Amino acid sequence: MIQFLKKNNPIPDLSDIHCHILPGIDDGAGSVQESYRLLEMEAEDNVKHIVFSPHFNAEKISVSDFLIKRKNALDQIREKVNSLGIIHMEWAEIRITENLLEIPYEKLCMNNSDCLLLEFPFYQYPVWAEPIIDEILADGFVPVLAHVERYPYLMDTGLLRRYVEKGCLSQINAETVINNPKLVKKLVKENLVDVIASDAHHVNNRCPNLLEAFQTGIVPEKAFRFFEK
Ligand SMILES: [Fe+2]
Repeated sequence: MIQFLKKNNPIPDLSDIHCHILPGIDDGAGSVQESYRLLEMEAEDNVKHIVFSPHFNAEKISVSDFLIKRKNALDQIREKVNSLGIIHMEWAEIRITENLLEIPYEKLCMNNSDCLLLEFPFYQYPVWAEPIIDEILADGFVPVLAHVERYPYLMDTGLLRRYVEKGCLSQINAETVINNPKLVKKLVKENLVDVIASDAHHVNNRCPNLLEAFQTGIVPEKAFRFFEK
């Protein structure tokens, strides 16, 4: 039986597996000070695990250069992360591009895991994406599909179900849980919600909001606790 949160239950430790909190590396936090505040907001929400997942596009940067940039960004806030008692991991939100299989994408897995965070292009379904994802699955990796609710072509066509049945995990943004509960309830009912994440970018917009989403009570608790499944 699915366990749903009762609104008055104490808040468990939450995990945010998708956010853009590292400073100066993508369209997320623009300064160390903004990163600090975002981290504090996550801590205030009782988020204990944060996976830093800056955007990666293989048509714009090499994996090795990305890894150096990510490390340099993390080094700037490492002390703050530790002072807040946050356990952190490193990841990448990988845009699905036609050349993805030609790069060492395995280096972009979350620490010590086989999980890759994949982001579809926004406007049109790329027909070449499915063979790429099939090959990633055949190689033993687990694709986590970022904010699947953003793509009408995934939602309206049964494509999301097909990807989930192949072995992909479905990630929904916390903002959608808060602002479109009807859609999220439908996806939960259809077992198409594996994990909720903030996808936080900034202090003033696209903010950390996991606790607010959690407290709606419409998504099973395990979707907020990725590391305790
Ligand atoms: Fe993102």
